[in-house]
Amino acid sequence: MHNRRQRILVIDDNITNVELLEAYLCAADYEVITAYNGHSGLEMAITEAPDLLLLDIMMPGLDGYQVCTQLKNNEKTRFIPIIMITALTEIEDKIKGLNAGADDFLSKPFNKHELMARVRSLLRIKSLHDDLDSSEDIILTLALALEAKDPYTKGHSERVAALATDLAKAVGLSDRAQDRIHKAGILHDIGKIGVSGKVLSKKGALQGDEYEDVIAHPSIGATICQPLKSLSDIIPMIKHHHERYDGNGKPDGLMGEEIPLGARIISIADTYDAMTSTRPYRKAMQKEMALSIFESETNNGQWDQELVKHFIKIIAKQTSS
Ligand SMILES: [Fe+2]
Repeated sequence: MHNRRQRILVIDDNITNVELLEAYLCAADYEVITAYNGHSGLEMAITEAPDLLLLDIMMPGLDGYQVCTQLKNNEKTRFIPIIMITALTEIEDKIKGLNAGADDFLSKPFNKHELMARVRSLLRIKSLHDDLDSSEDIILTLALALEAKDPYTKGHSERVAALATDLAKAVGLSDRAQDRIHKAGILHDIGKIGVSGKVLSKKGALQGDEYEDVIAHPSIGATICQPLKSLSDIIPMIKHHHERYDGNGKPDGLMGEEIPLGARIISIADTYDAMTSTRPYRKAMQKEMALSIFESETNNGQWDQELVKHFIKIIAKQTSS
């Protein structure tokens, strides 16, 4: 359960309406914040992290549809439920609202009981979503804590996540897809929690069994994340980040585009960061040397050549700036 009061943002240019809603909602012990036009409402929705929005449609400047569309397209605010308040009764207006991403409607003049019932129901969904979000946060924190224990891997997942996100952006993937690839980048090696520390920090070459132990980590990682439904789309990226484009990778020997795009992206970022970082068994490689290895890859090698081309441009740009 949540200890804090849930916060509701009311955006309406009609002061009487705002005061009435505020009176109803405060009486039910919700925290109410208010904005009197679309612009300031939009800003408050981003900075104040409300749990729910009551949004008037007809406002001068930015109207309710525009505010709703912008909030639903913003990663930070897209999960805030929005109830549109309208005096309009035409079905076309509701369709327009639904297309803008509204979660529910309330007609003016509003009925107090209907208002409170809709508010309660959407806040319940929001708090379920928040719980899900915090489970994701716990596992992300765990992944970072795990690698922070080892001076050789400290920072690796965050660098891989950042590089993979840059690459996803460069090939035109959506903000949402970039966000998922970023999370997968943080979590890609979480399965190493199931591999002996002795093997992971070994200075010499790995023996047969030791190699089998280490290469099991993508599958172990996928199993660890399995219970979290919100991670279901990134589990394939974790599981297949050691596949090779030529089909000689692990665990399933997937080939070419059979390998999920996110996994192909992470594989490039992961290998590059590993090459350019010091490991127990070797010193860090110069960036130029690492890039020349990527460049010399033939068409049917370890990585997706189309992605490699974009990746080389990203690193070249970073190096020159
Ligand atoms: Fe890995």
